Amino acid sequence: MKTKNKSLFSKLCKCYSKKDIPRRCENTDTDNENEADFVENLVHPNPTTEIRDACKDLVLSDDQLQLVMQRLTDEINRGLSRETHDDAIVKCFTTYVQDLPNGTEKGNFLALDLGGTNFRVLLITLDRQNFDMKSKIYAIPQSLMLGTGTQLFDHIAQCLALFVKDLNMQHEVLPLGFTFSFPLSQHGLTKGNLVRWTKGFNCSGVIGEDVVALLEDAINRRNDVKIDVCGILNDTTGTLMSCAWKNRNCRIGLIVGTGSNACYVEKTKNVQCAIPGNYAEHKPYMLINTEWGAFGENDTLDFIITEFDRAIDENSINPSKQLFEKMISGMYMGELARLVLEKLVNAGLLFGGKFPSDLRKRGKFFTKYVSEIENDPKGRYTNCREILAELGLRNVSDQDCENVRYVCSLVSRRAAHLSSAGIAALLNKMGEDNVTVGIDGSVYRFHPHFHDLMTAKISELQSYKFDLMLSEDGSGRGAALVAAVASQKR
Ligand code: BGC
Repeated sequence: MKTKNKSLFSKLCKCYSKKDIPRRCENTDTDNENEADFVENLVHPNPTTEIRDACKDLVLSDDQLQLVMQRLTDEINRGLSRETHDDAIVKCFTTYVQDLPNGTEKGNFLALDLGGTNFRVLLITLDRQNFDMKSKIYAIPQSLMLGTGTQLFDHIAQCLALFVKDLNMQHEVLPLGFTFSFPLSQHGLTKGNLVRWTKGFNCSGVIGEDVVALLEDAINRRNDVKIDVCGILNDTTGTLMSCAWKNRNCRIGLIVGTGSNACYVEKTKNVQCAIPGNYAEHKPYMLINTEWGAFGENDTLDFIITEFDRAIDENSINPSKQLFEKMISGMYMGELARLVLEKLVNAGLLFGGKFPSDLRKRGKFFTKYVSEIENDPKGRYTNCREILAELGLRNVSDQDCENVRYVCSLVSRRAAHLSSAGIAALLNKMGEDNVTVGIDGSVYRFHPHFHDLMTAKISELQSYKFDLMLSEDGSGRGAALVAAVASQKR
């Protein structure tokens, strides 16, 4: 099995060079330490026995993970089959993308990327294996995430128009790829109806509607730029396309970020749920957007769902939905850790029963804290102490810090193991060696051990050779590639 060739330790230090994560890995004196031991020790903190016991439901055995794989495979098959697709939980939506990039894609493409906390507009220039990108990020305030669909699409069209005018390209008809990272029931490459909102979005009047038409209407209302929407796609599809452009073995796209989902290359003959006439039956493959975040909605994951998961779900804006996603993704990881810590303090097992004032408050333990705390070198608790001080508690013992680190590692490790079970199920389903998995998302990118945890667990759960590859700007470049492949065919 291949892994990233990077030194693990240098990866641990480098992964915090991003602007939005200020706390750094400060220890450099481990160069002589055996690297495997170093990582092993970081990954396995030493909590007290009582704490280990109180948290045991968060530890998943390989048998449990194998059962997750088996159930997910069943759900995927239900999604693909025409008879069961409508009632299936893991929908396996047809993307109508049947061609992977071949490296000859050329031209200027606009891309929109909506799906997390930010919205991006990009201009991407493809010239065979060269690629240039200009982009601008716009925040999506909560008022827009929960407002009307018209407000949301007017905002998107406004940002797009400003961007195009800034580049003085408003008189050209520009092909556009729209990465829209929510479940879409697609009827073709440029038609996709929103099935549900996820990740904290809940704009009225959009569910059931064709999102491409909503975007075009908003652009037409302004009437100041010319756009030709060539394709709508999910971020997993974008990630897969973007990685496939560099690496022809890429056959799976995975996101572990604010949300979680995977897409993969399926044999066209197995995609019974595709609408006849809307795709090329003679082409051997079709990209499938699994929407695995919904897995578990029919009780299939009850055997591993904990009291903490139930609390997360009950307090979410989409109760009883997206249960697999809620156990994995960044939108929930910090809050999951907070709920565990809260229980331990209440039981008198942590901080001598004394609460950091903010630890009682929902949402105050950010997901990035999990990564930061786990990034402290073994035996040092600099980040951990800084974070606990931010939450209102100073002078904590080393053992308390070790316990906090343990809780963080349990939550992130479980997320990595569940994602691994999902990928292992897809690898078994595809039945091929040397599949590269293109991965994007803040959790995978910033968590110091996620890559290594996944590599190890996927190898334990299945026996095909695979490779995990960090996707560089999957959503943007992937959208341009889908638009390029589509516009070449027109
Ligand atoms: C959405 C998916 C998306 C994933 C990652 C989920 O909430 O349903 O469409 O791919 O988040 O962004």
